[in-house]
Amino acid sequence: MSIAPRAVLITGANRGLGLEFVKQIVCFATPPKYLFATCRNPDTATSLQEVAKSHSCVKVMKLDVCDFNSFNNLKENISSMLEGEGLNFIVCNAAIHLRSGFADTTPELMTSVYTTNVVAPVTLAQTFVPLLKLAAQKSSEKGMSWHKAALVNMSSILGSVESNQSGGLYPYRASKAALNMVTKNQSIDLKTDEILAVAVHPGWVRTDMGGQAAPVSPTESVQGMLNVFSSMSEETNGTLVDFTGTVLPW
Ligand SMILES: NC(=O)c1ccc[n+]([C@@H]2O[C@H](COP(=O)([O-])OP(=O)(O)OC[C@H]3O[C@@H](n4cnc5c(N)ncnc54)[C@H](OP(=O)(O)O)[C@@H]3O)[C@@H](O)[C@H]2O)c1
Repeated sequence: MSIAPRAVLITGANRGLGLEFVKQIVCFATPPKYLFATCRNPDTATSLQEVAKSHSCVKVMKLDVCDFNSFNNLKENISSMLEGEGLNFIVCNAAIHLRSGFADTTPELMTSVYTTNVVAPVTLAQTFVPLLKLAAQKSSEKGMSWHKAALVNMSSILGSVESNQSGGLYPYRASKAALNMVTKNQSIDLKTDEILAVAVHPGWVRTDMGGQAAPVSPTESVQGMLNVFSSMSEETNGTLVDFTGTVLPW
């Protein structure tokens, strides 16, 4: 891959797909000037800190995506580091998957998963949209792209209402279905500011969440998603797409 967006923010960057994004994005021929790699606990994020040691663009920053009161401070910190420039690309990657079916789903499980997987991405996008707008305004590129301004929500095929053949997994499925609606809304509401919004299914991937039986490696998934991101445009704005570039049903 050749040129990364100038300034990128990723949530949940300490392990799994978030960490793999950081590892691959720093290897672009032209890496970002700033890669804000956020995680709940920077002190224990040893793999991420290793990458940051050898790539000065990686700025490890503390963010619990459920600590909404901390968002504004983070935005102010990032804004001052950007020195008047905008933030081009955000990946809302952090999520939880608490497994429960019809009988054992509780209000607490539903609420907890919804808070992390839906309320957090909505609130993060609201907080950072001024920096995305600034990036779009400062860009001389025509049309919409990840180099200009884009928001990616990490979704899942498990959130697709149309593809659901097996039931179960109430909190996670419902949260990702809601995130899909959020993404579609964002693609409409932010279009006039030339900010893209896309939902991505990374495949079933061998991470802590996906488990070791998953058929796709993090390397393959993230390579595929970065290809997808690099070709995002008006045509793919407001779609649910997988790591191979296939558009999936909502
Ligand atoms: N793996 C799959 O097969 C698969 C399939 C479809 C969709 N996805 C989606 O892909 C994304 C990444 O999944 P993954 O497989 O990499 O999952 P993972 O290995 O379980 O990693 C989840 C990441 O989210 C972070 N996180 C969770 N709650 C957080 C919070 N409150 N604040 C900040 N960070 C938080 C975790 O940080 P901590 O280390 O602090 O817990 C971790 O970095 C998720 O959105 C997931 O739903 C994955």
